[in-house]
Amino acid sequence: MADMDDIKEAKRFYTDIPQKTDGFFLKGSGALDWGMKNRLARIFNPETGRTVMLAIDHGYFQGPTTGLERIDITILPLVPYADTLMLTRGILRTIVPPSTSKSIVLRVSGGASILKELSNEDIAVDIEESIRLNVCAMAVQVFIGGEYERQSIINMTRMVDIGARYGIPTLAVTAVGKDMVRDAKYFRLAVRICAELGAHYVKSYYIDEGFETVTASCPVPIVMAGGKKIPELDALTMAYNAVQQGAAGVDMGRNIFQSEAPTAMIHAVRAVVHGDETPKHAFDLYNTLKDESKTAPLR
Ligand code: R5P
Repeated sequence: MADMDDIKEAKRFYTDIPQKTDGFFLKGSGALDWGMKNRLARIFNPETGRTVMLAIDHGYFQGPTTGLERIDITILPLVPYADTLMLTRGILRTIVPPSTSKSIVLRVSGGASILKELSNEDIAVDIEESIRLNVCAMAVQVFIGGEYERQSIINMTRMVDIGARYGIPTLAVTAVGKDMVRDAKYFRLAVRICAELGAHYVKSYYIDEGFETVTASCPVPIVMAGGKKIPELDALTMAYNAVQQGAAGVDMGRNIFQSEAPTAMIHAVRAVVHGDETPKHAFDLYNTLKDESKTAPLR
């Protein structure tokens, strides 16, 4: 019953303590609304400002990719060590237990396959679906310089507008065509266009020369794409260099799930991203955990 008769007088006003007004930890995100910030804070760790996104959405255009043939068997054991899962609604509904507290970044563009022109994508998921699935961001591929460049940019701007109505951020995923030069000039162009047109954060490949100019000229966070499988030490070095040069984490797939020891690898990636561990230390950690996993499953 409500306190109708004997109402206690309110007296704890702490008039000598000004209310704290916190800023927001993420680059370029201070002017966003509460729901957007809250979702971004579930993707990016507020303590480090960085994220380890585990990308397993490859099947949306290339089918059962090596390492993703049985996501229930090979990927679910990695989920506890990722900050965020990036995937399609098909895999989310069929494989990922709804009891998970992990944040989800949902792939919402699609419509092309490896048999056709990849840049010919459309928006492939309704906003209602993203709301129903309680996602923390929506990922849209943007093909700067690609055949369907304009269409892919408009896909992204539409999701930015629609997501803004419901407080759901949009991740722009820069995709580089086979024949395009991967250099700082190209990535500065691509990520900046995405940010200028409203993306809340952008996924970009790492490049050896001038990556710091890509992150510096992008007003929102950048997460580094992993790309093709390379040796573990090289992948850890790439992730280390990316975060040291301003990336707010990684969105890695093949270099984790195609590793000889995926659980050891995701631990090592976390050490680089959240612990600023050097590639050498992280690689030592990888090898130690890999050896331990031969005798007992990693926890
Ligand atoms: C590709 O377009 C998808 O967004 C993948 O999620 C992305 O390529 C990341 O995976 P990987 O690290 O294997 O390149």
